[in-house]
Amino acid sequence: MMAGITRREWVKRGAMAGVGMVTAAAMPCLGQAAGTPGSEKTGVGAGSLKEHAEAKRLPVGAAVNMALLRGDETYRRVLAEQYNMVVGENCMKWAALRPTAETFKFDEADELVSFAEQHGMQVRGHNLCWHEQLPAWFAGAVTKENAAKVLTDHIATVAGRYKGRIHSWDVVNEAVWMKDGRPDGMRSSSPWYELLGPAYLEVAFRAARAADPGALLTYNEYGIEYDEPEEQGKRAAVMALLKRLRETKGPGGRPLVDAVGVQSHLKTANIAKLGEGIREFAGKARKMGLQVFVTELDVDDDSLPDEEALQQDRDVATVYGHYLAQMLQERSVTAVLTWGLADGQSWLQGEKSRVKHPQRMQRPLPFLVDENGTYRAKPAYFAMRDAVDGAKRR
Ligand code: G3I
Repeated sequence: MMAGITRREWVKRGAMAGVGMVTAAAMPCLGQAAGTPGSEKTGVGAGSLKEHAEAKRLPVGAAVNMALLRGDETYRRVLAEQYNMVVGENCMKWAALRPTAETFKFDEADELVSFAEQHGMQVRGHNLCWHEQLPAWFAGAVTKENAAKVLTDHIATVAGRYKGRIHSWDVVNEAVWMKDGRPDGMRSSSPWYELLGPAYLEVAFRAARAADPGALLTYNEYGIEYDEPEEQGKRAAVMALLKRLRETKGPGGRPLVDAVGVQSHLKTANIAKLGEGIREFAGKARKMGLQVFVTELDVDDDSLPDEEALQQDRDVATVYGHYLAQMLQERSVTAVLTWGLADGQSWLQGEKSRVKHPQRMQRPLPFLVDENGTYRAKPAYFAMRDAVDGAKRR
């Protein structure tokens, strides 16, 4: 089901959109053959996000839904045409890779890496250690006694399989949770913490470094972007964690961590509180020798009043442009990925993200798919591209 409005409506509204707005007439039918000549505004061929990003030596990517990659030729084409980096939305998580304690299932992950390599795209690995998406057998099979070995073996097998083919791994995902009340902010409610204590992070990063010395080892986190008390507190705890990881030497005498992933699951509310603090964080990360990746960018628009879909898209685009313009001024920010391609494919279509407007689909991503299966670049796409154009070359 396509998000929001029909194509006919989109074209009509776009045509009426007026000055300063990318009109529907300029909205590309991105399902067209790659390289379709078009105006600068069409977003394909020379106007693609990838072309603009490559001019700045900045990888831009999207999280990939493997069912769509396997079953939708247009999805594959738009992905290859518009991006030079991919990350599996779910295919490299424990639940996907580990059907049993004894076996691995790599078909989807292999297919993602192959697709990327066929199209000259870099791959982010997501993720080697998380408190969510653990397989059903985990709780009954992993104990305090064997947990370090289970984690090490998993990472050695998975990261070892793709050695030399991964740009960066999200080695540990979301280990900070202030509500657990620890002074250091660590998520003590995580199964890994319960099994190994905070040492699980070092176990994971050491195993990843040993398995693939060429990959950038990343700590990935959400809820640290806004200048609101809760996020400021979490941001400080994440910075302290990064400092500990950076000061700990792993295999080869190298620091355990190379990069921090700022997931960037943003919202249309409180844009005035978005920017200063996270930019400062990115600057501190640079001084620590870390790269910063915008790893899961999308914009939750549930807080918007019911309004014209096009106005909603403009408001979402404003957040994209505002945030990326600030983040990309920080030289430590060296990759930008959205958490998906098109609105209807977003995790935000779930109930917990549509509280105020349960009947309204979220419009969080750079594309929409119209009723003909055509990918249309939205204002957020152009806001991303404009922010990339405004960035310094990496
Ligand atoms: O694969 C099973 C399928 O076999 C089963 O029939 C179906 C019904 O239960 O579930 C399928 O698994 C789902 C999986 O996505 C694959 O579609 C899980 O239930 C569902 O919980 C899972 O949601 C993912 C979520 O992470 C949890 O892993 C979302 O798609 C994904 O967008 C989301 O991504 C996370 C990042 O990894 C970390 N940062 C936050 C971000 C958003 O939550």
